[in-house]
Amino acid sequence: MDLYKLMKNRRSTREFQNKKFPDQKLQLILQAGQLSPSGADQKPFVNIVIDNPILKKKIKDNCESADKKYYEDASEWFKKWMKKKKISLDKNFLIDAPFLIVVAGDTTKPYWLESTWISIAYMILAAENEGLSVLTYTPSETDFLNNLLHLPNRFEPVVIIPVGYAKDKASKETSINVEERVFINKYGERFFY
Ligand SMILES: Cc1cc2nc3c(=O)[nH]c(=O)nc-3n(C[C@H](O)[C@H](O)[C@H](O)COP(=O)(O)O)c2cc1C
Repeated sequence: MDLYKLMKNRRSTREFQNKKFPDQKLQLILQAGQLSPSGADQKPFVNIVIDNPILKKKIKDNCESADKKYYEDASEWFKKWMKKKKISLDKNFLIDAPFLIVVAGDTTKPYWLESTWISIAYMILAAENEGLSVLTYTPSETDFLNNLLHLPNRFEPVVIIPVGYAKDKASKETSINVEERVFINKYGERFFY
């Protein structure tokens, strides 16, 4: 599919069908994550694919209790936004999606966080290209993942990406208001009109 069309059609998914997809699609997504540019070419990230239902349930339980605490202290603005978006504190997507990809960055490497996020962006677009949906889920605590996944302490889990077929496959285009955020020569001088 055309890259720009793909970017416009992509939407975060929080409800997944309980349906498997070919392994080859997952391989392509994971390979795409390794093709991104990285600071000093260090590729300071690892991906752990999770398909074990018991492990998925443990991750869900940990995430839900951490997020509940985070939500209680959150600002009113954030709570309203969550309600409007119908984002629930139940993280069923962590057990419904056939695969989770935990992406962790090596904190000892230069530009580790920036490089890890670019790699994540590549995987998000690759999933869209494979007709799959994902969520960029950033749990409010991640230490438990180091223990659960035997991940050495120098790695910091950055995101959990559930991958699967969306329940609602309708494609919704985003309005981007590009003219309000892109300037030429100085802030405020619009590039687009
Ligand atoms: C850095 C980052 C962190 C995010 N964390 C979460 C999260 O923890 N939970 C969640 O439901 N969505 C999360 N999202 C998804 C955003 O809410 C979503 O991208 C945004 O609302 C725009 O919707 P769209 O992806 O459908 O365009 C995150 C996205 C990014 C880029």
